[in-house]
Amino acid sequence: MAILVTGGAGFVASNVIDRLLAGNEIVFAVDNLSLGSVQNLEHYRGGGSFRFIEADLADVDAYRAAIAELTRQTPIHEVWHLAANSDIRAGSLDSALDLRDTFMTTFNTVRLMDEFSIRRLIFASSSAVYGDRRDVELAEDSGPLLPISNYGAMKLASEALISAAAQRFMEKALIFRFPNVVGMPATHGIVLDLVNRLRTSPELLSVLGDGSQKKQYLHVTELVDAMMWCRDHGDRGLDVFNIGPDDSGVTVRQIAEEVVAAVAPEARIQFGVGKQGWIGDVPHFRYSIEKLKRLGWEPSLHSGDAVRRAIAEISQQGCLDGGGKF
Ligand SMILES: NC(=O)c1ccc[n+]([C@@H]2O[C@H](COP(=O)([O-])OP(=O)(O)OC[C@H]3O[C@@H](n4cnc5c(N)ncnc54)[C@H](O)[C@@H]3O)[C@@H](O)[C@H]2O)c1
Repeated sequence: MAILVTGGAGFVASNVIDRLLAGNEIVFAVDNLSLGSVQNLEHYRGGGSFRFIEADLADVDAYRAAIAELTRQTPIHEVWHLAANSDIRAGSLDSALDLRDTFMTTFNTVRLMDEFSIRRLIFASSSAVYGDRRDVELAEDSGPLLPISNYGAMKLASEALISAAAQRFMEKALIFRFPNVVGMPATHGIVLDLVNRLRTSPELLSVLGDGSQKKQYLHVTELVDAMMWCRDHGDRGLDVFNIGPDDSGVTVRQIAEEVVAAVAPEARIQFGVGKQGWIGDVPHFRYSIEKLKRLGWEPSLHSGDAVRRAIAEISQQGCLDGGGKF
């Protein structure tokens, strides 16, 4: 039996695929390469336990054809649905983007899981479903859930759809609300953005917002650990978990200063105005991860450590352009 990873050429997915292959799983990946890169899949080329098909998962016929092709010899028993528009800012400018890449990819995943009798789903949701609740420590049952970005809205709609599907035909459906995730191979996010800005202009780092935005950051290796732990130790059919570090986060100012120190110590930092970096940006949030801890998993890195490690890793990484052919 195989595991299907959607958005397989992306940042988090390539870490998930590494871990699944290390556990001797057969892994199939699909991606339309809109944001991910084939470079992230190069090292699996020729391995007997891995196959990749390029397909747009918002197009149900293309998605169905990819699954039919992949399952010709080995059926799929579990899906890790990670494909989405991960560019929240772009989704605020074009609401069709999140409808298509965040919601319709989930809708089609659920529909095709039913058609192909696949009963286990792991879903990458986001802290964005909580909206702007800056002074509350957010637990999984905190409400009302009022997202402030199209991205958050389409993640929340996806969660609702999965909840309904879980009643109908799923044996296991785990919804993970990620915080900001950092590490390699970065395709987007604050650390990559700041490092790339400094590479373009080593004298001046201009930062979106006034630098006071404060959020929690988790290193991708810990994120994957936590998901694996819940998948293997949770006993409920449908469940929702916040995954995050156990701290109150770090500010954008701190991150900018650390990036400058690591990449171009002479650079001057110029902050923007206002607390929001862009429309749809949640300037402050803090999770409770008590539920995750009760299940037996705890993070070992604080937000600041995760960011520092990611800066060291990403400043060694070349600029990614996405796309390409596998
Ligand atoms: N990285 C974070 O900080 C973070 C935070 C919260 C939630 N998430 C979620 O985790 C998942 C993985 O995120 P990531 O950071 O690895 O982003 P990413 O952009 O690196 O990966 C997403 C992948 O989905 C693919 N994709 C998008 N639309 C598609 C479509 N229509 N058909 C096929 N493939 C498509 C992209 O090409 C990309 O490879 C996403 O669902 C994202 O929303 C990430």
